[in-house]
Amino acid sequence: MPDLAPNHHAHYRQFSGAFGYVAGLTMIIGRGRDAKMVADIANLKATDHVLDIGCGPGTAARLAGRRGSRVTGVDPAQPMLRLARLLTRLRRPKGEIDWLCAGAEHLTIVDDSVTVCWSLASVHHWPDLAGGISEAKRVLRAGGTFIALEKRTEPGATGNASHGWTPDQANTFATLLGEHGFTAVEVLNRDLGRRPVVAVTAQT
Ligand SMILES: C[S@@+](CC[C@H](N)C(=O)[O-])C[C@H]1O[C@@H](n2cnc3c(N)ncnc32)[C@H](O)[C@@H]1O
Repeated sequence: MPDLAPNHHAHYRQFSGAFGYVAGLTMIIGRGRDAKMVADIANLKATDHVLDIGCGPGTAARLAGRRGSRVTGVDPAQPMLRLARLLTRLRRPKGEIDWLCAGAEHLTIVDDSVTVCWSLASVHHWPDLAGGISEAKRVLRAGGTFIALEKRTEPGATGNASHGWTPDQANTFATLLGEHGFTAVEVLNRDLGRRPVVAVTAQT
């Protein structure tokens, strides 16, 4: 797989098993700003049904639930979903949240059923980008919003610093969205405190 591919970490295997719980716990901290950013981009309302693909321990899903939206959080790693369920029981958001074990490429969700579909720090791990994008398009209603948010990384970064997208990787993903029939595709660069992020947004 070329380094430039937006899913350059497709073979990362550390979200399951015991390490999955450790990884999930590290994701509880510091994700609130990312969650708020996607909710703001989506102009989230209580009438929305949000699908969070690769929800991890569920920070963004719970934020949408706190705002009254109905939410479906999807992740292929059981440790992530167990943490998400536990944290949600403790924090009790007012919106309804369902948790499903599935990968982006095989969402067990009916067609045209969600109004917002977002994915935070996850797309760079999807093994089948075309499959994941097709599934997001299938489940989104007409006029729906798709957002992929990633940490903005430097070309040539290694280790933890490489978990995210360089500008080229974000642009390649934006092109793929357009090829799959998404419209109004945009690449937004933002600095959340000292954390640079890039969001690729699109409409159905
Ligand atoms: C870095 S974590 C981000 C979790 C969460 N979105 C957050 O921002 O805190 C990446 C997540 O993507 C999930 N993931 C990996 N491969 C995936 C796939 N093919 N489809 C959906 N999610 C996937 C992992 O299990 C993990 O929970």
